[in-house]
Amino acid sequence: MANIVFYFSGTGNCLKAAKTIANELENTEIVCMAKSGSYSLTKEYDTIGFVCPTYFWGLPKKVIEFIGNLNFGNNNGAYYYAVITYGGSAGNAMNQIYDLILDKHNVKINFTKKLKMFSNYVLMYDMSKKIEKITNKSNKKLVPIINSIKNRTKNKANRLMKVFSFINKDFIKKVSDMDKDYTVNNNCNGCGICKELCPVKNIEMTNRPQFNHNCENCIACLQFCPQRAINYKNATQNRGRYTHPEISWKELSERNKI
Ligand SMILES: Cc1cc2nc3c(=O)[nH]c(=O)nc-3n(C[C@H](O)[C@H](O)[C@H](O)COP(=O)(O)O)c2cc1C
Repeated sequence: MANIVFYFSGTGNCLKAAKTIANELENTEIVCMAKSGSYSLTKEYDTIGFVCPTYFWGLPKKVIEFIGNLNFGNNNGAYYYAVITYGGSAGNAMNQIYDLILDKHNVKINFTKKLKMFSNYVLMYDMSKKIEKITNKSNKKLVPIINSIKNRTKNKANRLMKVFSFINKDFIKKVSDMDKDYTVNNNCNGCGICKELCPVKNIEMTNRPQFNHNCENCIACLQFCPQRAINYKNATQNRGRYTHPEISWKELSERNKI
């Protein structure tokens, strides 16, 4: 039978994980959760998965909206799983996705797992130099997760983390306007890669990118900019940059449209 995996990704980690899961399960559609409006499942699936990053100990705003509006169709019998990627602590993200799907759709996720990947949040800290080492580790950690999905394993998230849900709520309130503190310097050559990449179409190009305050703060624009022209306040000018080594900006932008 068919499978589907939904992902949201700024710097490629979640797309990489979703692609690996899809390859292993076979016959799996990969669909981006950055779409606006409501997405409907029009056929029956064997497995339905969600792969998304941790943002401030919870879920990205777009993921909350997308899942809230998702029409599961005739899929009550499917096996549901979620893989939450994170860099340091996933906090309450696993509970949040479980509760969201239960509250909005009366569906219980069967299996939720966090996956440590490269920590991309350059607004707060410099990028580690150990990209290869961390990436290899994540690849290895994904293997047992995929085996669990194949074996239809069931588990429960740690409910204690729910007390930290206020951290994500505060982020969600502010996130759309965070691009007010994004700057573009004279290195910008107007290539438009940032516009192509932005999963929520928040960027318009005149000579330079303009941000329209519907930002998810996924930092794809800032991290992928080949000229390093995009920065956040005065925080990121002297920090490194990170994008998943196996995911090009072209692939991410094309996949984000599917
Ligand atoms: C806005 C934002 C907030 C983040 N918050 C957290 C966090 O609370 N905990 C954590 O471990 N990692 C956090 N991260 C790191 C990402 O969750 C992690 O690097 C993820 O794998 C990135 O996935 P992507 O490459 O598919 O975008 C954050 C990243 C961003 C962009």
